[in-house]
Amino acid sequence: MRTGVWLVGARGSVATTSIVGALALRSGLTGPTGCVTELPDLRGPALPAFTDLVFGGHDVVTTPLTKRAEALATAGVLPGRLVTALPDELAAVEDELRPAPAGGSQAERAAAVVRDLTDFRRRHGLDRVVVVNVSATEPAARPHPGHADPGALAAALAGGDEVLPPSSLYAYAAVRAGCPYVDFTPSTGLRLPALAALAAECGIPYAGHDGKTGETLVKSVLAPMFAMRHLAVRSWSGVNLLGGGDGATLADPAANAAKVESKQRVLGETLGHVPQGGTRIEYVEALGDFKTAWDLVTFAGFLGTGMRMEFTWHGCDSALAAPLVLDLARLTAAAHAAGHTGPLTDLAFFFKDPLGASTHSLAEQWTRLCGFTRRLHAGGTDAAPR
Ligand SMILES: NC(=O)c1ccc[n+]([C@@H]2O[C@H](COP(=O)([O-])OP(=O)(O)OC[C@H]3O[C@@H](n4cnc5c(N)ncnc54)[C@H](O)[C@@H]3O)[C@@H](O)[C@H]2O)c1
Repeated sequence: MRTGVWLVGARGSVATTSIVGALALRSGLTGPTGCVTELPDLRGPALPAFTDLVFGGHDVVTTPLTKRAEALATAGVLPGRLVTALPDELAAVEDELRPAPAGGSQAERAAAVVRDLTDFRRRHGLDRVVVVNVSATEPAARPHPGHADPGALAAALAGGDEVLPPSSLYAYAAVRAGCPYVDFTPSTGLRLPALAALAAECGIPYAGHDGKTGETLVKSVLAPMFAMRHLAVRSWSGVNLLGGGDGATLADPAANAAKVESKQRVLGETLGHVPQGGTRIEYVEALGDFKTAWDLVTFAGFLGTGMRMEFTWHGCDSALAAPLVLDLARLTAAAHAAGHTGPLTDLAFFFKDPLGASTHSLAEQWTRLCGFTRRLHAGGTDAAPR
């Protein structure tokens, strides 16, 4: 199943690490550590192989992909030997990267994205193209009447309005081009009634939001433990220190607020109440693509006895995120092939703020993911296969 992976934010750290990683896997230069779709419980015939993946994407910057990969190698995010071993493969992906459409109306920019996607699909004879948003986090969308339904959106776009935030404009174009869509960021993306309805009309599956790679991953394991042992969590405070492009973006209070909201949701929904405390994100340029998160939890046990736990997470964000981007592209492609449409809630395992999630517990999300993948491999489908 030849599958296009179209990365919005294709020259960013997560995208570049995903591309180098996939090319290295394809060439047998590295193993699939971190790719959950290569675990025995998930591996199988329904998923496109790494050799089936073809990369392309949009970005607003033009820094050559090889330069971005070299910078990540210098920063210790990926091995430099992979960048030197894959010059032709990286050059081939470079040829598939396009500047993010600028100027003109939003309708014209959306049409340009649709053209780029359909040309890419045709040029490479792809069965399908999965659009994955790994672009910079944007502030929450400003409400607009055009968000209400597909008709209102079409009218607003035809009238020349700036209706959609950039992530949603790409999501709109993806749906219009018949492409499944994954949002790895906390941005609005497809989470507008008009876009969800349009995706349903067009039979498009989509997944999101905001990859779960660090502090929230640990929270989604620990919070159910406190709940299951009937321990009363009184406070949960976290500090995240990060550098890199993502850290620089999150220095903007509006983008920061979108991310913080997405990170705290797991506690309220798992514990049944939101404990005192919050999550802070601070930009520390010197940390580059590495992140340190420190969390302090205070809780009470039998007879009200007070206790506390703390943990420190030192992660390399892009190395944690990239294999999940590849997993999501493979799973979403397989779901599209099997005829799934609408939100892929069984992929909640991957996200901080999962669409329509019934649980934030990582263990329960894992069980659902395994069941979903097993059905895909067995040829189980909700609709006619495509
Ligand atoms: N790394 C992780 O562990 C992790 C986890 C969850 C979510 N995320 C999210 O993934 C996203 C990418 O993270 P990153 O570290 O690669 O950031 P980054 O800043 O390195 O990359 C973002 C890229 O998006 C591009 N971009 C900005 N606006 C664009 C637009 N309108 N169209 C096309 N491209 C655009 C930028 O030029 C840049 O190349 C962020 O939103 C981040 O919050 C990352």
